[in-house]
Amino acid sequence: MENRTLRVFKTMSYREKPNSEELAFGRTFTDHMFVMDYSDAEGWHDAKIVPYEPLKIDPAAMVFHYGQSVFEGLKAYLNPQGEPLLFRPRKNIARLNRSNERLCIPTLDEDFLLHALKQLIYIEKEWIPKADGTSLYIRPMIISTEPFLGVAPSKEYKLVIILSPVGAYYKEGINPIKIAVENDFVRAVRGGTGEAKTGGNYASSLKAQEVAGKEGYSQVLWLDGVEKRYIEEVGSMNVFFKIGDEVVTPELNGSILSGITRSSVIQLLKHWGISVRESKITIDELYQEYQKGNVEEVFGSGTAAVISPIGQLDWNDHKMFFNNGQTGKLSKELYETLTGIQYGRLNDPFNWIE
Ligand code: COI
Repeated sequence: MENRTLRVFKTMSYREKPNSEELAFGRTFTDHMFVMDYSDAEGWHDAKIVPYEPLKIDPAAMVFHYGQSVFEGLKAYLNPQGEPLLFRPRKNIARLNRSNERLCIPTLDEDFLLHALKQLIYIEKEWIPKADGTSLYIRPMIISTEPFLGVAPSKEYKLVIILSPVGAYYKEGINPIKIAVENDFVRAVRGGTGEAKTGGNYASSLKAQEVAGKEGYSQVLWLDGVEKRYIEEVGSMNVFFKIGDEVVTPELNGSILSGITRSSVIQLLKHWGISVRESKITIDELYQEYQKGNVEEVFGSGTAAVISPIGQLDWNDHKMFFNNGQTGKLSKELYETLTGIQYGRLNDPFNWIE
């Protein structure tokens, strides 16, 4: 059973909006949020937009103990006419449901959730920042709320969507970052939850990031969790290599997140007539191609950073430098085109915007 009524309760005290030239990532939140509850008896119900406020949750809620939760990340942009645009929101909602399936969380009516999200964005449109490179980051999340200490899927959940006006994710922006290949820790394994957007994947990535950070790296390049040879992701992004005339990215294998920016990059490259290979690629193979002088550009892709060029990749004692540590031509073109479409400045041949 599912109740599709959406009620709106406006705030009585509006918050001060930040200066959009000085925005960090994910530190400021808007006036309202969307919430919806699930119980076995009522299904997803009681959908409402309410003033942004802390949640009151039982300390026995299962999410605090066993981490049964999922989240999403997407962005709203203002076009030159001042109208809010969403970039491929249906893809995020579909992925939220796939993550739900993996985490034993009841799936959602995708059309209703999109409708609710659009209402929330409409109410908060004054919060979409205007400065170049800024946007309104949308964070849907679902947590298991049943107060119970047994290890089992919860019978109660809460879905919340919060909004945050954001600037660049990495302080480097579109400038190249320095990455270390991670040999000890792994992010995900085959059969695990790597493909789902669940907090546990990010929690388990923190140690590697902390160690690499102390050594002066922005992030790590993740290898597969079994043989520690196959390249999987970089930090919390998908990764691409321009090797000669071809662009290579690790194929989706169950432990790699199916990025929406990843799929957009692949579609754009193909549209431009550039050959894209989604396949396994080992770190040895990459190094060999590097030694032959074939690796022209390396970059990460994700919603938060869009395109993040990698200028240096260190694999044990082997140091690889790409494009003289500068932002490559392809990385730049992809960034300009994706953001051009996202901000409604460029024509959108793929109908990504709504
Ligand atoms: C992305 O959008 O690239 C991410 O996955 C980062 C996010 C978890 C902040």
